[in-house]
Parts: sequence; structure tokens; C-alpha cells
Amino acid sequence: MTITILFFFLLLTLLLLFVISSEFVAFARTRVPFVPTHAGDIEFIVNKLGIKSSDVFYDLGSGNGKVVFLVSKLTGATCVGFELSWWTVLFSKIRQQAIGNRKIKFKNRDFFKEDWSKANIIYCYLYPPLMGRIEEKFKKEMKPGSIAIIRDFPFPNMKYMEKYFLPKAHEIYIYKKV
Ligand SMILES: C[S@@+](CC[C@H](N)C(=O)[O-])C[C@H]1O[C@@H](n2cnc3c(N)ncnc32)[C@H](O)[C@@H]1O
Repeated sequence: MTITILFFFLLLTLLLLFVISSEFVAFARTRVPFVPTHAGDIEFIVNKLGIKSSDVFYDLGSGNGKVVFLVSKLTGATCVGFELSWWTVLFSKIRQQAIGNRKIKFKNRDFFKEDWSKANIIYCYLYPPLMGRIEEKFKKEMKPGSIAIIRDFPFPNMKYMEKYFLPKAHEIYIYKKV
């Protein structure tokens, strides 16, 4: 009995260490904390843009996968999440396996090192110091007609096509590559 309890606590401690170190390393690399988007904001975006099942949607910095799962559920689009924090990617992959949706993928990778040309929609809830690099990659790599959905921190140079004010003082900027 005592051995079982000890083993349980050891397992719990290891899990906790894994989660904390994963978050710490991801934050040290990106300087972007994990803060999720509200579900209502995702529904608003999906309805405004009319995202459809033929679209390919990338969430750059997918956190716990909330945006990817909801966009997939509402639209049937192919959805990919890129995230540097191991535990949130592991959590997202387990959830993906549980629901068995093969149009959803999670990659434990730096999105700056990935090819975005297969996507026609990207979503970012990141921080201002990254937005210039994302704007450049969006303009250079994505096909004409592609859409960038940016929460709160706009691209520094490109003019947005639409801007929406969301509840709880958030903003969404929509960019289209011509
Ligand atoms: C503010 S959270 C947003 C999470 C999710 N997109 C949402 O809106 O609910 C930003 C996430 O981006 C991740 N991130 C930042 N830079 C990254 C990079 N270069 N590659 C992969 N993930 C990154 C962070 O680890 C963090 O979890």
C-alpha cells in the first residue's frame, strides 16, 4: 500500500516537473506566454470569414489546441497547430487521437521554421515583437488570396482589410494577400 502511494506521488511529481519545464523552456524561447483565445471570439471569426471545409487553417502557436479543435468542429477545415510547449502539444495530440479526426494535426515545432505555403488561412494570438517577421513570411510564402487573422497585435506595415472589436476589449485584424 505504502509503495503504491509512493509510486503515485513520484509519478505525479514527474508529471508536474514535465509540465513546468515544458512551459519554462517554451517561454524562454518565445517570450510569449500561453493565454487562450475565448471560444466566442473563435466562433465570431469563423462566421465572419465563412471558413469552409476546403480551407487549410494554421494556428501559429496553438497552445492547448482550443482554436484548432473549435475551428475544425465548426467548419470541417484541415487544421494544423504549431506549438513549442511539449505538454500542450502532447495534450492536444491525445485529444486528437481520442476524437479520431484526421484533418487535425499538431506539430511540436517552431512555426518560423515551417512552410506555410499549403495553408490559406493563418491565425495568430502572439506578441508585437514577432509580428514583423510573421508579416514578412505571410507576404513571401503564402498564396495570393490567403488570409491572416491577427488577434490584438497587428502587422506593423501592411494595411488590414477589416478590423473587428470583440467583447472583453479584444480586436481582430484581417489581412488578405493580393
Ligand atoms: C498567447 S498563446 C495563444 C494560444 C492559442 N493560439 C490560442 O489563441 O488559444 C501563444 C502560444 O504561441 C506559442 N509560440 C510562440 N512562439 C512560437 C513559435 N515560434 N513556434 C511555436 N509556438 C510558438 C507559445 O508557446 C504560446 O503557447
